[in-house]
Amino acid sequence: MGGPQVPDYIRRLAVYVPGKPIEEVQRELGVRDIVKLASNENPLGTSPKALEAIRQALPELNRYPDGSGYKLRKALAQRLAVDMDQIILGNGSCELIEMLARAYLADGDEAVISQQSFVMYELAVNQVNGRAIAVPTAPGRRHDVVAMAKAVGERTKLVYIANPCNPTGTYVTRRELDEYFEIVGDRVLTVLDQAYQEYVDRADYPDGLDDLRKGRNVIVLRTFSKIYGLAGIRIGYAVSSPEVIATLNRVRSPFNTSSLAQAAALAALDDEEWATASRTHNLQELKFLEAELSRRGVKFTPSVTNFVLIEFDEDVQKLFLEFQKRGVIIRPVGGPGLVNCARVSVGTRKENLRFLQALDSLVLAATAG
Ligand SMILES: Cc1ncc(COP(=O)(O)O)c(C=O)c1O
Repeated sequence: MGGPQVPDYIRRLAVYVPGKPIEEVQRELGVRDIVKLASNENPLGTSPKALEAIRQALPELNRYPDGSGYKLRKALAQRLAVDMDQIILGNGSCELIEMLARAYLADGDEAVISQQSFVMYELAVNQVNGRAIAVPTAPGRRHDVVAMAKAVGERTKLVYIANPCNPTGTYVTRRELDEYFEIVGDRVLTVLDQAYQEYVDRADYPDGLDDLRKGRNVIVLRTFSKIYGLAGIRIGYAVSSPEVIATLNRVRSPFNTSSLAQAAALAALDDEEWATASRTHNLQELKFLEAELSRRGVKFTPSVTNFVLIEFDEDVQKLFLEFQKRGVIIRPVGGPGLVNCARVSVGTRKENLRFLQALDSLVLAATAG
């Protein structure tokens, strides 16, 4: 076949595997009444204020969106006490992760990541022919941020820190982050990905905006996908210095966030009631789920987020299929140190019970047998 050759680094790229959609399981296995606990979505639904804003924005769909998202950036700037030129919107925070790699990494440049962290970092780095330097985690599946700082070399331009981390559910403390910055200084741009920050209930959990205020070379990523329940419409944002944001705007596609997404996010931001209810629900159900796992002697990593990483003794791919047959979608995860691990999102009480019921019929039955 003729035509242009695809570069090797593109040919080698792994394709991102998302949480298995409900419809796919219905189609493949003919199972009804499916519970999806695979993508850390908000099990309560979407902020009602956001839904109403989407309805109101519908008649204007013939118009292009405001590419820069003026109104949403203005509201965010007010809320976060920063300037508007310190904020950029993304088509989900995933897009911001990619934009960072595009803007900062030339061929062969490095980004330091933690070994058991969000797979999008490595994908984004590989997409631009960069090198991801994966640093082993500390005991307890925690980012070893000191080792990450020490891994920063001549060609390192970015460090991605997921805080809290997906898929481990663990977090980096304020003291650890300070220690990291003492070593690394402002030599690289540190990406503090706080996609799950609203769920964290720990006094020593650091807010990346404090690092930004201290003048550190950081960019903070946030999303409306999780607590605000807007994963389907795709919108997130980043906060940094005006210089970093200006750089990212150079690689931003002109209308990267839709008018519906901007309207929804603006309304969701105003829906404290929703965020509070979602946070309270998650804290309660996370406690329930972890207690039930402990009671059964199932190995898991204690979580500060809306999902739990479980380590099975059985082959996780087989279990994944068996869970599906029982109408429950979990998320197998792979990579170093994650053999037979799966991530399970916190659902409603009913959904969590469905998961536990399936777990009992599979894992405990296997142990008893
Ligand atoms: C750590 C982390 N960062 C970013 C994201 C991206 O979320 P979104 O693109 O929906 O904003 C996710 C989603 O699962 C995540 O786990």
